[in-house]
Amino acid sequence: MIARFEELDWQSTPLGDLTLRRRNEPAVGHEIYEVKLGDEYLMSSLFTVAEEALATLGLDATSGSGLNVLVGGLGLGYTAVAALRDERAGILTVGALTVIDRLAAVIRWHERRLLPVSTELVDDPRTALVCDDFFAVMRMPPPTDAMGYDAILLDVDHSPRHQLDPSHGALYSADGMRSLDRHLVDGGVFALWSDDPPDAAYMAVLRGVFDDAEAHVIDFANAVTGGTSSNTVYVARSRRRGPLT
Ligand SMILES: C[S@@+](CC[C@H](N)C(=O)[O-])C[C@H]1O[C@@H](n2cnc3c(N)ncnc32)[C@H](O)[C@@H]1O
Repeated sequence: MIARFEELDWQSTPLGDLTLRRRNEPAVGHEIYEVKLGDEYLMSSLFTVAEEALATLGLDATSGSGLNVLVGGLGLGYTAVAALRDERAGILTVGALTVIDRLAAVIRWHERRLLPVSTELVDDPRTALVCDDFFAVMRMPPPTDAMGYDAILLDVDHSPRHQLDPSHGALYSADGMRSLDRHLVDGGVFALWSDDPPDAAYMAVLRGVFDDAEAHVIDFANAVTGGTSSNTVYVARSRRRGPLT
């Protein structure tokens, strides 16, 4: 008999108590994985459509192949693996994938191959998992020898207004977006997942800093409610055309 509920890991972290659990979900009739941080649900393997769309929509806005891509927020790994799988005319879009996560425990789950896409993620020679604070990295100028990222795909906070940690808030301001833009190649793409509907104030920030900013509403079937749920994926392209400063 399979247990209905299993706690796979529990860690005290700077962001609150982190729990990974696996349980049977009667609404879908199979096992799902869930991550809780403090009292909030951070991620469930039941809902991955928009996490994957973050990668595919962000990469659709780039051109070429062999791209250098950064993912902020590893979680269950769906955004990262969707980026690794992305192809153009049968050629893999991504040449190198760096994934930054602040919580060492999350990286260890994948290294221990605990999650459904862990093996695909960690066995791919293009993947580098880095334990760091994405927001601190974006505040710093890129190292002088850095190539720059063709795309930065971010899914850490619930939305630009609802953050996991107050230290994240500044990134979503115009100055924060300009700091992030320094890490992109000319014409590189920034994409962001959000649990909230498109936010006019944040779109104005994006349009002030980037070109072609768009908010995509991603609808998906919610087997638990029997209805449709929605997330938002913002996609914006760097307007810098000159050398990095
Ligand atoms: C919602 S999950 C990401 C889900 C992911 N898109 C997926 O497909 O599974 C958010 C992740 O951000 C990480 N995180 C939280 N604060 C962070 C920070 N300051 N820098 C980098 N990662 C952070 C959490 O540990 C968590 O793994």
